[in-house]
Amino acid sequence: MEQNTVQILPDATAKSLRFNKDGKFSIMHITDTHLDHDNIEASVWLIAAACDREHPDLVVVTGDNVQNDDDAAVTKKYIDKLMTVFQTRNIPVAITFGNHDSEVGAMSREELMAYYNTYSCSVSVDEGPLLSGCGTYHIPILASDSNEMRFNVWVFDSNDYDGNGHYGNVKKDQVDWYKAKSESTEKANGKKVYSFAFQHMIVPEVYDALIECKRRKLYSFEHINNKGTYYHFDPNGINFGTLNETPCSGYENDGQFEAMVERGDVLAMFTGHDHTNAFGVKHKGIDIVNSLSSRYNRDAFSSQYGYRMLRVDENNPSVYTSDVVHWFDMFTLTDAKKAEKNGDHFGAKLMKDVIRRGLREKMFLSFCRTSGALLSGRKVTYKH
Ligand SMILES: [Fe+2]
Repeated sequence: MEQNTVQILPDATAKSLRFNKDGKFSIMHITDTHLDHDNIEASVWLIAAACDREHPDLVVVTGDNVQNDDDAAVTKKYIDKLMTVFQTRNIPVAITFGNHDSEVGAMSREELMAYYNTYSCSVSVDEGPLLSGCGTYHIPILASDSNEMRFNVWVFDSNDYDGNGHYGNVKKDQVDWYKAKSESTEKANGKKVYSFAFQHMIVPEVYDALIECKRRKLYSFEHINNKGTYYHFDPNGINFGTLNETPCSGYENDGQFEAMVERGDVLAMFTGHDHTNAFGVKHKGIDIVNSLSSRYNRDAFSSQYGYRMLRVDENNPSVYTSDVVHWFDMFTLTDAKKAEKNGDHFGAKLMKDVIRRGLREKMFLSFCRTSGALLSGRKVTYKH
């Protein structure tokens, strides 16, 4: 006799947030902070400065957050430093994980999430054992003057690695959860609710939005798992930003992107993982967007790292703005002098370092943009 199996999926709904009285809502995307002994003070100082500059309504942190130490107390110390930035400023923060968070070290994803959630500013959810990974949930954004859900934020754990040691992806059970939740949200609201999706790993469909070439050329990058095949921006496509390295998607594909296309409620998905990529491509109606790493250390690129700001209006939620802010965009020498005068010697020294290294990297970025635009035969709009 045939048996009906009922798929049980967790609710995984975070605490709701609300559009401001002026109808606006802003989200700061922070990713790949890789906080460790060497970069913790500088990275956290810069993230705090970014929060003071932007006053975001929500921060989403998409993985490879903390270098998980063998000693859980050390890992917790790094988490404390990061979360204190948001807690002291009363900024809600949504956490998910990357491939490195629980790769080595003393704490599992569930233990890490439980610790992040000891901070009241965290709106993150451990969805429980019914879904793969830890940190797949959604955050309803309600209208400024009613309890109508006017926007939605999906957060996915794109897992760490597949069975062959390649980068992970959002698994079928998580895709099923998204589809069910997307449908029930539409039903409850009487219409589709526009949304963003955030996760660590980019989807493999990013390659479908690029142009394949058989030979490596300037600004082309080899496919993550199809060696000998190179890709660059499509001169006729809608793309923006700077593609500096191969998009490192998972090898496996359980249909997340196609499900989003089918459901039609995701405007854009934002990922990290590829530290130097700050670009977006539009594919099948969805913007696939990668944000820069948000750490600061001595590595060659880190003064061009930074964060992404997203802004939505409740009166027109199908349109959004997106801006990449590099660390070097944030300060002038006058700011450094002011900090010095106020006794913030650490901040003053850091700002000067960012400005000095930023000058070189600005020239490099400007070269990439100009030559990339010329090579692709069109004027590329580098609106991030
Ligand atoms: Fe990563």
